Parts: sequence; C-alpha cells; structure tokens
Amino acid sequence: MLNRRDFLERSALLSALGFLPRSISAEEYEADVTRTVLPAHFRARPCVVSSANGIKGVQLAYDRIGSGEDALDAIIAGVNLVELDPTDQSVGLGGLPNEDGVVQLDASCMHGPTRRAGAVGCLEDIATPSLVAKAVMDYTTHVLLVGEGARKFAVAMGFKTQNLLTEKSRQDWQRWKSRLSKTDNWLDHDDDVKINWTHGTINMNAVTAAGDVSSVTTTSGLAWKLNGRLGDSPIHGAGQYTDNDVGAAGATGLGEMNIKVCGGFLTVEFMRQGLTPEQAGLKTLERMVRQSEARMLDDKGRPRYDMQLYAVGKDGRYGGVSMYEGASFAVCDDKGARLERCAFLFKNSERPR
Ligand code: GLY
Repeated sequence: MLNRRDFLERSALLSALGFLPRSISAEEYEADVTRTVLPAHFRARPCVVSSANGIKGVQLAYDRIGSGEDALDAIIAGVNLVELDPTDQSVGLGGLPNEDGVVQLDASCMHGPTRRAGAVGCLEDIATPSLVAKAVMDYTTHVLLVGEGARKFAVAMGFKTQNLLTEKSRQDWQRWKSRLSKTDNWLDHDDDVKINWTHGTINMNAVTAAGDVSSVTTTSGLAWKLNGRLGDSPIHGAGQYTDNDVGAAGATGLGEMNIKVCGGFLTVEFMRQGLTPEQAGLKTLERMVRQSEARMLDDKGRPRYDMQLYAVGKDGRYGGVSMYEGASFAVCDDKGARLERCAFLFKNSERPR
C-alpha cells in the first residue's frame, strides 16, 4: 500500500514524465470539452428523460433513484409500466404484430457504472423484453440474443410466457391485411379506424446524484414488419447508448434510419464534444437526413419519416428533439414529472403530404 506522501511523490514523478495529466485550473477544466473524468466533488442533478409515453414511468424511476435504487433498475421499472399496459400498442403486451400477426419484441439496455450491456431481438411471448435484455447482461457473457434463442433463454430464466396479441391489436392487424389488395380473398373493412402507433417505442435514460447514467429502449417495432426484422431498439449505439463519462441518449422513430447513423452513440459523442443534449440531438437528426436514401426524402430534401431523440448529460442537463414540430418528451427532475416540447428540425407545414 502506498501512503499519501509516497502517492503524491510518485504522482509528481509520473506527471513530470508525462504519464499523468498535469493539474489544471477550474477555468481550463471548464474549457476542455474533451474531458471525460469529472472532479471528485461532482454532484449531478438526478434526472430521468423519456419518450412521451413514459410520463408515468419517469416519475416512478425518479422516485426510485431518489431512494437509492440503481439507475438501470429504476428506468426498467419505469418502462415495465408501459410494456405491461395492454392499451399501449407500441411496446410489450398489446404491441402491434408483424405481417404474420405475431408480436415480436426488441429491447436493449446499458448500465453506465459497470459499462455493461444487454439486448434481445424478435422475442416472442414475453411481455417485458427490457428485463430479458438486462438478464442477458447480468447472466451471460453475450450482449444480444434473438428469436427462438432469446425466448428459450427467457424461459430458462423464469420469465412467464403469454399471448401478447390483444384483441384490439389483432383487429388492427386484420384491418391492415384486408386492405393490402383489392384482389385477394379478404373483404375490405369499410370502417376507417385510425391506428396511432406504427413504429412507437419507449426509450428512457437517467442520471443519479452520483452522476451514474443508464439507458433502456423497448418496443414491438414497426407495425406489420417482415418476420425477423430488427429495428434500432435492440442495437446498442442506435436505439440507446450510455457512456458513464458523458451521458445517455436513445431514440423513437423509424429504426432503419437511426441504425445508419448510430443515433444514440452519435448524440452522446456530440455531448462529449461539449454540445448540450438538445444541440447534440439536433445535430444527430441533421446527420440522419444527410444519410437518408432518396426514396426517404421528398423533392425538397425533407424526410418522409419521423424520429425523436432523448438525451441526458452526466450533469443532469436533458433534451428532447424531433424531426418535425409538435412532438413532446417526458422528463422528471426536482421540478416533478412533466411533458416538454421537443426542439425540431422542420416545421409541421414542411412535412411531405
Ligand atoms: N424505433 C423502433 C423501431 O423502428 O423498431
């Protein structure tokens, strides 16, 4: 064991030899946007941020963080509320099915303090894929399990299997199927029922007072997707990303567009460079538009898809951004749980018709 004096002498020597960073002033520290290690006196403002459908979950997660619970456990409890809600057709139980009428769920999570990650894709019959993703992280050396293997793992871990297709989601699927072609043997339904979510998802990110960060994203994915399609939600770096030195970010929206820019990762990287969560999210959206193939843009270069990003910094700053005007996100901090307006790239009037 080194005593304090030995330690200081050794540090001074290593520093002189260039092995350790020299000490810097508070001003230099603030000006250094590449810093990743925060000072020992650092205290964060605890904060939970999520997609708007997580409004109840952010309160629950914030309360749990306040009573000392780990950030990842707290936000998974938050998203479980939505996964188990049969009326939310974007996630878990009641999620809209794939083109075969089968509900296939995706989820991923990252735990900042231990720098671990887990995920599942195309998981059937288990209502809480976020918990299965965490079990992959906690009990295996892998980070992503998919399909039948993911289901088998979940059953082995004691998760309950159930039919996730609610009557409402089954009817919506049947309506979609009946309208696919005028020449098939399905008669068209003449009612015009609006289906709210086609690629809904819940992403939730949190920071504790100690500055520990975590993130989780869970979804039933794109409605009527091809059997086996994975979106961005189970992909670390796309659907969500955490770096405990910087913060966390995640997304809801058309996953294919987000995967191509690693939106969760990119947003965290922009924050590392010194941008606020909101600035970082907007810059990621700009990159997404730039990386969009022509068929996804109108003749004025505006996206034919929607996307939202939600981010929290290690210091408790947060932001939510959307491709188009009008979206909200949920946040809970010492001012309580609330919905706030997302910053946006394009006005609603600019949306392709
Ligand atoms: N963002 C959800 C999905 O595309 O599956």
